Amino acid sequence: MKKWIGIVAAGLAVTSLCGCTMFRGLNAEIDTLTLSPAMGGAAVTDVAAPASAAPTTDAPTTVPTTEATTAPTTEPTTAAPTDGRVYQGTTAKGYPIFVRDGVTYVETQYGDVILANKTYTLPEDYGPGGLTPECDAAYDELKAAAAAEGLSLWIVSGYRSYSTQQGLYARYCAQDGVAAADTYSARPGHSEHQTGLAIDVNSLEYDFAFTPEGQWLAAHAHEYGFVIRYAQDKQDITGYMYEPWHIRYLGKGLAAEVHASGLCLEEFFGVTSVYAD
Ligand code: DAL
Ligand code: ZN
Repeated sequence: MKKWIGIVAAGLAVTSLCGCTMFRGLNAEIDTLTLSPAMGGAAVTDVAAPASAAPTTDAPTTVPTTEATTAPTTEPTTAAPTDGRVYQGTTAKGYPIFVRDGVTYVETQYGDVILANKTYTLPEDYGPGGLTPECDAAYDELKAAAAAEGLSLWIVSGYRSYSTQQGLYARYCAQDGVAAADTYSARPGHSEHQTGLAIDVNSLEYDFAFTPEGQWLAAHAHEYGFVIRYAQDKQDITGYMYEPWHIRYLGKGLAAEVHASGLCLEEFFGVTSVYAD
């Protein structure tokens, strides 16, 4: 399988290169680009397309209830949380999981963690429009730490809107077929890039894993709040092929725990990543 890459460089426009030797690699994808510092590039992000989409979840809705053990008071009571959370129960690992505004979150001691994978969708109109401030700041710290060791990291693809992902996925399906595309590209509404919490760095080639930057990233990303999200040998669980370049921001505490566990995020939380259809 080949990949598509679009590049706009200073004074030089190159679009939709299939099998480009400059960025040779398999099953890789780019939509928003930051050119390497050597190329003088700058971050480019897109914005979410306004649209409406019905929130979807894969689990039945349950509302936590509390039983009165004392005489009823005159105070009105309600079982529904006031911030719009609709609890779905707990994951197989015992984490409370809830949906708010069509987005699924897992509750952890470190805070609420957005789920976006083949099982858990994002609404069409969901999107921060760029990397979240937390993710952006953590990436800056990561990049500076790498630079201090003489290593250069740059963003190849950061935030992607639903509509951008829709275009990418359609292109990959046309190129490789649906079954193959599903192994490396998320369907619209299923990509972590839509959360503003995921970044593809440096290179979308598997050989990136063997570069000094790739090895440093695998060893140190968690210290800055990121995990390599689609690990080798976890394809059957994450639903995606190995992506040594795709990092997901979780915050330092949770990223350290997930990294130390040796589990992918699905295993760690006890959730699935499987399309409904
Ligand atoms: N390449 C990852 C799975 C995505 O499309 O979000
Ligand atoms: Zn990615």
